[in-house]
Amino acid sequence: MFQSIERRPPDTILGLSDTFKKDANPNKIDLGAGVYKDVNSNTPIVSAIKKAEQKLWETEDSKSYIAQAGPEGFNRQIVSMILGGDSAAVKEQRAISILAPGGSGALRITAEFVNANFPGTRTWISAPSWANHVPILGSAGLSLVEYPYYNYDKHEIDIDQMMDTLKGATTGDLVLIHGCCHNPCGGDLNKEQWQAFAEAAEKQGFIPFVDLAYQGLGDGLEEDVYGVRLLAEKLPEVIVASSCSKNFGLYRERTGAVTLIGETADQISASVSQVISTARQMYSMPPSHGAAMVDIVLSDSGLKQEWISELTEMRERIDGLRSQLVAKLKSVGVDQDFSFIEKEKGMFSFLGLSPEQVQTLINDYSIYMVKSSRINVAGISSRNIDYLAESIAKVLK
Ligand code: LMR
Repeated sequence: MFQSIERRPPDTILGLSDTFKKDANPNKIDLGAGVYKDVNSNTPIVSAIKKAEQKLWETEDSKSYIAQAGPEGFNRQIVSMILGGDSAAVKEQRAISILAPGGSGALRITAEFVNANFPGTRTWISAPSWANHVPILGSAGLSLVEYPYYNYDKHEIDIDQMMDTLKGATTGDLVLIHGCCHNPCGGDLNKEQWQAFAEAAEKQGFIPFVDLAYQGLGDGLEEDVYGVRLLAEKLPEVIVASSCSKNFGLYRERTGAVTLIGETADQISASVSQVISTARQMYSMPPSHGAAMVDIVLSDSGLKQEWISELTEMRERIDGLRSQLVAKLKSVGVDQDFSFIEKEKGMFSFLGLSPEQVQTLINDYSIYMVKSSRINVAGISSRNIDYLAESIAKVLK
């Protein structure tokens, strides 16, 4: 068998981290995978999580399996973090979150669940989108189609083209939409645009499938779910795949959730039973550790406050880096207007460089980013920003 297997090229995002590690250049900069970094380019453990881990170590008395849906406390905390404690859907138990192995796991079990019940469901994905959306959703059997999202020349989202194309989305289709901090472009819908999107969903009957991987890293924990909450209020059905990787810094613990919002508690509990059964077929039982820590943090007001402060610090640091990069590029004599970087949200922005220019930055300057020129803004620091700006200026000449 193995002799006929061909080698796959490295992953377009994760492969960069491997090459970066092997690079001996002391000035190397990693702007590849979307992982938060501090000023020393480390990805720290959130202190509230560290404390929760200690508490867990002291109190956990078994390693037996947890419930298939995940810890009840975690599920309750997540649904109210997304929809708000006062949400009618939560109160009426027609919005339920269940634990999934990371945001990617949440996307995948949702896709499997939808495809098992409605094979080949047409699913609209923004162009561009996270590079792994197509493999995760497509290989579950969903039929993927694109809708335009970002205008690369104007460096802003192309709402007119997006809404025009989405006129083709009809009853039963899924429309994957980034809840905040669009990956890869950093361009988010404003309130008015969310309103237009919600109205289109209502009129045409498509179901929003929200990828919420960065709650808290755009404008704030509450602000970043403006769109999701609007959809949940206005529409009969919404699906959310969320992640605790970035906002809780739990990357390797694979902690995320599927949230189903529907018309009745009965329909939602039946659908949740199907999602759980899908997960049983795929990996049987969910991981416990990350969810247990999130549950501890969110149910302890002191730890919760500490986490919110740390999250605020992360967000403000990224925002600050956006402004500093724009200013630094100007100060090293770059004529092009990079001010769009300051307006975009979350970890990512496109620099707007060609694949050749990106390759030059990698080969000649050891500055790593995705081929599309997507940068992880959090990878910039006061220690590397001069070298970064000067190198970009050189490849732009
Ligand atoms: C990214 O987009 O860089 C992150 O979400 C990490 C990943 O798995 O691709």
